[in-house]
Amino acid sequence: MLIDGHGRSVSYLRISVTERCNFRCQYCMPEKPFSWVPKENLLSFEDLFLFVKVGIDEGINKIRITGGEPLLRADLDKFIKMISEYKSDIDLALTTNGYLLKETAKKLKDAGLKRLNISLDSLKPEIAKQISQKDVLPKVLDGIEEALSVGLGVKLNCVPLKGINDTEVIDLLEFAKSKDMSIRYIEYMENKFAKDKLQGLNDDEIQEIIGKKYNFKAVGRVESSPAHLFELEDGYRFGIIDPHKHDFCEDCNRIRLTAEGMLIPCLYFDEAMSIKEAVQKGDVEAAANVLKEVLANKPEKNKWSSDGENETSNRAFYETGG
Ligand code: 5AD
Ligand code: SF4
Repeated sequence: MLIDGHGRSVSYLRISVTERCNFRCQYCMPEKPFSWVPKENLLSFEDLFLFVKVGIDEGINKIRITGGEPLLRADLDKFIKMISEYKSDIDLALTTNGYLLKETAKKLKDAGLKRLNISLDSLKPEIAKQISQKDVLPKVLDGIEEALSVGLGVKLNCVPLKGINDTEVIDLLEFAKSKDMSIRYIEYMENKFAKDKLQGLNDDEIQEIIGKKYNFKAVGRVESSPAHLFELEDGYRFGIIDPHKHDFCEDCNRIRLTAEGMLIPCLYFDEAMSIKEAVQKGDVEAAANVLKEVLANKPEKNKWSSDGENETSNRAFYETGG
């Protein structure tokens, strides 16, 4: 079992396989970065897998593949297969914008993927286009259908933004519910890469909107998930993630690995250590030592303040996988 410097058990690894993305979401990557990480700096799947094995042997039992947009990385299904063959009962999930899912969902499922989180901020083509700065909605909806039809578990992620998609909270909930998918609303997290002046709906505002149409009760958080869950009278559950509360930091069980091999103990902080040298040498012990050192230094909590003033993350979410 992996225990961090604050006594928390760590069992969840998020791996960002690329920082590149085919969307330009206003809250994440509104402009193409000045330069991408050169391809030669990316760790190969073989190198990443060496670290994955170390992690699994030490107690990691949940892995989520993220990006950027992870489906932009060629042969992702092969990486998923390596992991699922090493530990068949691993909780293996992927976060995607859904654009390339129609073509890939079946391959991913066959490779051993179990669950997907798909970003869906709007059901209106024009609004989806405004947020992601590309005409994405038809392909994303096709991708969602395909994922459901091949039997992948699907959760939707939505970032409600004032004056943009804040009128769609209920429509998105009802869309998700009609297809037996869960939906989680994520409060917009301030970061210096996002478009200026974006304002997210906060937890209370989201609850208020839903409360005007539905009765629901809070059912708390499940395991170490940051999402607070709520239940409608018919039993349907939705979630809200409020990073500004940082109550979930207390039992945070996650670490993050970037495509370049930086192991990051907390999304908010800049601190990280590289596993690159260790894995490229095939040095399992050195890789395990980096893991232990990063865990020993995992911060107690993030620093997003509840008033949203002055506290922003320096690291791009498209690099760390949010
Ligand atoms: N604030 C909140 N959520 C964000 N995401 C990316 N950037 C932000 C941000 N600034 C989330 C979106 C997307 C997922 C990949 O990451 O929900 O669905
Ligand atoms: Fe790409 Fe996801 Fe960031 Fe949007 S939120 S730009 S889809 S990585």
